[in-house]
Amino acid sequence: MTTPYQCKNNDSVSDDVVWHNSTVTHQDRVTQKGQKPVILWFTGLSGSGKSTVANAVESKLLLMGKHSYLLDGDNVRHGLNKDLSFSDSDRVENIRRIGEVAKLFVDAGNIVLTAFISPFISDRQQVRELVCEGKFLEVFVDTPLEVCEARDPKGLYKKARAGEIKHFTGIDSEYQVPVNPEIHLHTAELSIEACADFVVAELEKKGYLQLEEDA
Ligand code: ADX
Repeated sequence: MTTPYQCKNNDSVSDDVVWHNSTVTHQDRVTQKGQKPVILWFTGLSGSGKSTVANAVESKLLLMGKHSYLLDGDNVRHGLNKDLSFSDSDRVENIRRIGEVAKLFVDAGNIVLTAFISPFISDRQQVRELVCEGKFLEVFVDTPLEVCEARDPKGLYKKARAGEIKHFTGIDSEYQVPVNPEIHLHTAELSIEACADFVVAELEKKGYLQLEEDA
């Protein structure tokens, strides 16, 4: 069963589970909001600035009257994903669930910002494939490990180096760098403000801040 925002079959586990189309359509929601819904997928090491930049982008979008929602790694792990660890398989499940939630926000007509390390290329690709072409923009928050480690805002790198935290990304767990991100941010060279301005300018340039005619 496909819906206008899905663009591909989404099978349920059982034939007895049937998709219901809502009376208020995706196009209705998009028209009401006057923007093109999209997922802005921030990826990068812990301490790279994903959440900080995403927050700054959201504030700017709010001032412009745009409708957004930020899904943040640490916050989602307090609720929806509180049962997941940082093993490779749990990180895969973490991103799968976030992808599904982000897709629902796109259906609702929102600009969804996500701030997760999301270390694996295949997981990020899987989320991209959940939504229609052009509805997923990968934002690589490119901050060298040395810089993240020097910042160490939560003291986690120190703990990881001391062996108190296992499977820490960049230390003893892999981070796979995006190959061709739509937006590439060098946070070590730019201020938070400049990074946020750059993201908003890209959204504007790509037409996401205007009404979508035919969602
Ligand atoms: S992801 O790899 O599954 O995408 P996610 O973004 O949800 O990670 O969570 C990362 C945050 O959890 C980090 O910013 C950090 O605050 C915290 N954290 C705790 N343990 C780890 C760990 N072993 N590796 C990475 N981050 C960790």
